[in-house]
Parts: sequence; structure tokens; C-alpha cells
Amino acid sequence: MNAFHLLPVAASTLASRVDAIFLTLFAVTGAVALAVACLIVYFVIRYRKGATVDRSQPPAGERWLEVTWIVLPLLVFFGFFGWAAWTYTDLEQPPADAMPIFVVGKQWMWKLQHSNGRREIDELHVPLGRPVQLILTSQDVIHSFYVPAFRVKQDAVPGRYTSLWFTATHAGSYPLFCAEYCGSQHAGMGGQVVVMEPAAFSQWLAAGNSAPELAAVGAERFRYYGCSGCHAVDANVHAPDLRGIWGRQVHLADGRTVTADARYLRDSILLPRQDVVAGYAPIMPSYQGRIGEEDLTAILEFLRSAPDKATGG
Ligand code: CUA
Repeated sequence: MNAFHLLPVAASTLASRVDAIFLTLFAVTGAVALAVACLIVYFVIRYRKGATVDRSQPPAGERWLEVTWIVLPLLVFFGFFGWAAWTYTDLEQPPADAMPIFVVGKQWMWKLQHSNGRREIDELHVPLGRPVQLILTSQDVIHSFYVPAFRVKQDAVPGRYTSLWFTATHAGSYPLFCAEYCGSQHAGMGGQVVVMEPAAFSQWLAAGNSAPELAAVGAERFRYYGCSGCHAVDANVHAPDLRGIWGRQVHLADGRTVTADARYLRDSILLPRQDVVAGYAPIMPSYQGRIGEEDLTAILEFLRSAPDKATGG
């Protein structure tokens, strides 16, 4: 690990793809810059004052040359754009079976929580070879979750969820940074991501965890805040059925269709008038200021992991 690396170690499935784009772009633009620099030096020497060269017929224009140097780079860079956009799309869309981990940034630490309730601070343990999705937010200012070895970086923004996913390809521990200036101890806000063999990870996850399952806490909170009063299948109030809501396509009253991800569910709880489901009246009260991040997280995990129980029963 102490050897010199031009790039950080690559330890995720997307890392090699990001590197390939970076290195190709670097090689192509580097080659062009080098060629231009060499030609400048060559012409400066060849056509210097007093040199005996033929200057009788300076070229006035060369249509095919101009067309070539406009069209060729254009095509090359459209190619780069398509390649990068394709990779970015994959980077933005976690696989459906990704294991969720909830992350809250605060001045100046990363607080992480696994589905089974186990918490970590400034250290994240993940299994090897399995897609992991981090659902991030912040309880004060903007932070940015950055793991160079995975080539992933995502802002953690107060008041909303952002997401990031990766599949680790090599066991080991990798530095974790905060990549958004967030106050006097920003530089110290970091830790490490520990990638473990799946069996060792399961053991680690279960060991010393006395916290209840996040989904169980969520089920209790779901009742505590009265969600079940309206969203139960047999409730008198006409409210959307939440069974299997996670990841489902939802048709909204204004004609839009959205995927029910963490962001959508969070907004529906805090800003219920924003995305009203088609066929329902906008009667849900806002829970803004009445529900904390931790309870929100628990309710989300409950909706995600217990799709058939979200009836409020
Ligand atoms: Cu948190 Cu910089």
C-alpha cells in the first residue's frame, strides 16, 4: 500500500471503468498536446530568421484539412461523451439487490447504520463482491462521502437523501474522506472502509450487536407517528397502500411517474403535497420538524425490507 501509485488502488467494479475513461482521455489529449508542442518547436527552428527555406508559395487554405480537424475531433469527443454518459448512468443506478446502509454526516464524523441495527462511526464494513447502496444525508452542513479506491464521491446534503453504490472487488481497508469543506475540522473527517469476505462480514455484522433490527424499529415508529392509521389496508381514510412500495413505479396526480426510492418516500413524508399519488386527495399532513433523521431512516428500512407488513396491522 505504501508503493507509489499514479492512481489510487482500484477496488470496485466501477473503478476500472472510470480509470479507463480517464486514462484514454488523458492519452488522447496528451498525444494531441504533445504533437502540437513538437510541431511548434520544429517550425520555430525550421523557419527561424535567416534560415534558407522556400517561402515562395505560402498556403492560402486547405479545405479538406480544415474539415478533417473539425469533424474528426468532434466524433472522437462525442464518442467520449457517450462512453462517459453510459458509465455515469451505471454509477447512478444501484442494482435492485443492493444492500442498503444509512449514512449521516455531521461536523465532523460519519455515522453509519446497517439494516440489522449495528452502528459504526468513521468506519464502514462491507462484504466483498456484493452491491452496497449508501443512502446519505447530513444533520448540519453539506459533506461529501469520498472513497478514492472505489472511485465514488457523493454529497451528503441536509434535508434530503442522496445515494451512492459500489461493489467491492478486493478485501482490505481503504481510506474514506469528506470531500466538501465543512468547517474547521473538515480535513480530519474521514476514516476507512473495510472490505471483508462475505462469511467474515456476516459474523462481524452479528457480533456485539444489541441494537434491534432497523426495520423493527421502523414498524414501531410507523405506528407511533400514526402512519398506520391511514395507510393500513382496512383504514377508513383513503390513503395509498404501501405494501411493496420500495422500488415500485408510482403514478402521480400531475401525470408524472416516479420510482419510489428513498428520496421519494422521504419527500412524501416531509412534503406530502409535492408528489400526490394519482387518485388520492392531498390530505396527508407534513411531518417536517416532527420526525428526526433516525426515525425516518427506520421507517424507510421498514418499508423497504418488510414489503408485506407495511399495512399498519
Ligand atoms: Cu464533512 Cu468536510
